[in-house]
Amino acid sequence: MSRLRVAVVGATGLAGQQFLTALADHPRFDVAVLAASSRSAGKRYEDAIRAASGASQWFCTEPLAPEFAQKTVELADDLDASSVDLVFTALESDVARTLEARYAEHVPVLSTASAYRYEQDVPVLIPGVNPHQLPLLRVQQQKRGWKGFIAPNPNCTTVGLAMSLAPLYERFGVESVIMTSMQGVSGAGRSPGVIALDIIDNVVPYIAAEEDKVEAETTKILGRLVDERLEPAPFRVSATCTRVPVLESHTESVTVGLGRAVSLDEVRAAWDEWGREFVSLGHATSPRRLITYLDDPYRPQPRLDRLAEDGMTTSIGRLRADSVLEHGIKYVLVSHNTKMGAAKGVVLMAEELVRLGYIG
Ligand SMILES: NC(=O)c1ccc[n+]([C@@H]2O[C@H](COP(=O)([O-])OP(=O)(O)OC[C@H]3O[C@@H](n4cnc5c(N)ncnc54)[C@H](OP(=O)(O)O)[C@@H]3O)[C@@H](O)[C@H]2O)c1
Repeated sequence: MSRLRVAVVGATGLAGQQFLTALADHPRFDVAVLAASSRSAGKRYEDAIRAASGASQWFCTEPLAPEFAQKTVELADDLDASSVDLVFTALESDVARTLEARYAEHVPVLSTASAYRYEQDVPVLIPGVNPHQLPLLRVQQQKRGWKGFIAPNPNCTTVGLAMSLAPLYERFGVESVIMTSMQGVSGAGRSPGVIALDIIDNVVPYIAAEEDKVEAETTKILGRLVDERLEPAPFRVSATCTRVPVLESHTESVTVGLGRAVSLDEVRAAWDEWGREFVSLGHATSPRRLITYLDDPYRPQPRLDRLAEDGMTTSIGRLRADSVLEHGIKYVLVSHNTKMGAAKGVVLMAEELVRLGYIG
């Protein structure tokens, strides 16, 4: 099977670097174009990610693949999307707003940005969680007259939360959700990023616009597709998002009011059995489990658990009954923000869209 030609736009940023890591030696995708801003355009990739001091700003723990290091970065504005089969974007929202629509006229665009997440004809996709919303991509193409489409993933904080709620919502119903996040600094990207002097020995109790995103996206992802429109799931989410001195991964303390009385064993079974069909497809970047439950009461922890299944599983622990919400349970989760929460999760989504005939 020949590989599809892909472009990575925003390739020099944190999420862009995770795209390159997920796409190195990929069996189905061949990275034909790397693109970024005028700051990087025309430079070899390894030079584009060098700070003024000369230090490389390669962030991933995996080494930069030599074929990408030597590639010349193109200007995202000039990208001829019709020269590739698929575009992955890792851009700030304002830039994404213009460029993604331009590319989607020609080819599918899979994005980590929030620019289109809240539009009626745009599903917010998590692999294995909301395949029932995929037909909305065809509606979007028809409505906008595009050959391609825009398919964004959620905010990185939403990913672990929606993953943990999906089996609960499907089996028991969900009435209400209260979530407090403790988010890693890589979630802020390089620009503007988080200053070390502000975050070391500290917790920052506010992340601009994050709570609204988590609240709106969670119910959209778990919503139903009715007459070519998405009806959000009918429960409320209350989020408090904080930044903590952790490099990668987001930890979330979650309290859920379920739709009926349920034993903790039933909750465990719902998580254990979730996503088996999806992972059995054996996609190149798929974890073996979408959710991993840990019995150790001191887990999950960012340092110990973020790289489980190479950052592609949501690790959950500390399941207890909650006496404040009706039919309440509470738990803690850890989800990798730049792997499943961003680029690698988007690559997994692309693998599934190829299988289903939406791409290629
Ligand atoms: N970091 C995470 O954990 C995470 C998780 C989920 C989603 N996201 C989302 O992913 C997107 C990128 O985030 P990030 O953390 O990777 O940000 P970042 O590290 O600041 O990188 C931004 C990228 O956008 C490029 N860019 C900036 N202005 C541009 C322009 N005018 N034209 C073309 N390219 C331009 C930059 O290129 P230059 O280097 O040339 O300036 C760089 O490649 C955001 O929408 C973010 O919300 C991030």
